[in-house]
Amino acid sequence: MIYLDNAATSFPKPQEVYREMDLFFRERGANPGRAGYRMSLEAERELEGTRKLLASIFGAKNPNRIIFTLNATDALNMAIKGLLRQGDHVVTSTLEHNSVTRPLENLQKRGTITSSRVRASQEGFIDPEDIKKAINPKTRLVVITHASNVLGTVQPLKDIGRLVREEDLIFMVDAAQSAGVWPISVEEECIDLLAFTGHKGLFGPPGTGGLYVGDRVELAPWREGGTGVNSQSPSQPEALPFRLEGGTPNFVGIVGLKSGVEFLLAKGIDSIRSHGHRLLSNILRVLEGDNRFILYGPKDTGKRLSIVSLNIKDSSPSLVGSLLDESFDIAVRSGLHCAPFTHKELGTFPEGTVRISPGYFNTEDDVAQAVCALKEIASSIKTAGPQV
Ligand code: ALA
Repeated sequence: MIYLDNAATSFPKPQEVYREMDLFFRERGANPGRAGYRMSLEAERELEGTRKLLASIFGAKNPNRIIFTLNATDALNMAIKGLLRQGDHVVTSTLEHNSVTRPLENLQKRGTITSSRVRASQEGFIDPEDIKKAINPKTRLVVITHASNVLGTVQPLKDIGRLVREEDLIFMVDAAQSAGVWPISVEEECIDLLAFTGHKGLFGPPGTGGLYVGDRVELAPWREGGTGVNSQSPSQPEALPFRLEGGTPNFVGIVGLKSGVEFLLAKGIDSIRSHGHRLLSNILRVLEGDNRFILYGPKDTGKRLSIVSLNIKDSSPSLVGSLLDESFDIAVRSGLHCAPFTHKELGTFPEGTVRISPGYFNTEDDVAQAVCALKEIASSIKTAGPQV
């Protein structure tokens, strides 16, 4: 099997991640911070070490402002539902994943908030000026994805962040696709809330992720419970990270996430990104010249993750995805990628596209085989006539 669906989750994980999780779970898996015995304290140190590593890769000064979550969706919900109040207006974009669109839509339906969706260009870029135009006196939050999970387009975060800060609003970034793959600095990019997942570019297991909460923001907890501190109080503690971390965390997963981030730092974010770009360029170089394919996303690979969405003319993406799987043993994701508004902008709604997302463990040979398979499918479809 050639796995080319790393935008959904990176696979495989580095060997260290499997090994450390297994070892920790078997030999040291006590509940962190809930007791004073050494095993529990050691588990707590693992969590704190992970928080520090995450803070360092996002340029956050205070590790206690990194809140562990289950994934990016969990972090986005925690932020959106913990921040927004009756009458607030939110600016967002057509590039968002359902993890942003759906919580906002729900609040809007209940009459709590209003929102404006800024349109992206065909290549998938958001113009900061359009964000500025969408801001009104009720606007409290601007939330955008750093990198589209359909197109890979990376947004000019610094320009948008500075604009949002000048307007004295809250800036939230969905870094589900970009964390670990693209440099992020919460200070330089004026990010108040950064939601990320552990199981993609950070090489951790599913069930891990986090939310950076900057000091301009106060979030109401949407989950309350035991924290191991201030147990005498009937209320959730005020201090972070406890305020937002009620309940036993996924500490085995977090140990795996730590190993994933250590692997990432040892290899270097830049070198991992360069590898992805090499594979992406290999795909684009061959398919761009073949008029049976429609390729989506920016021409400039310097502003793009290693993701390519495409369609074969006169063919459905789900059919192409199935043929890649069943006839060529190649795994890609076809359809709407939980980002329906992006596909509406592209004109690919409701069928979507075929998304190929090479990762660190893919080789040039993997993508060469995928390109050959796609060409073979395009030829067979031409012979058989249009499919729907
Ligand atoms: N959000 C993930 C994707 O883009 C699952 O496939």
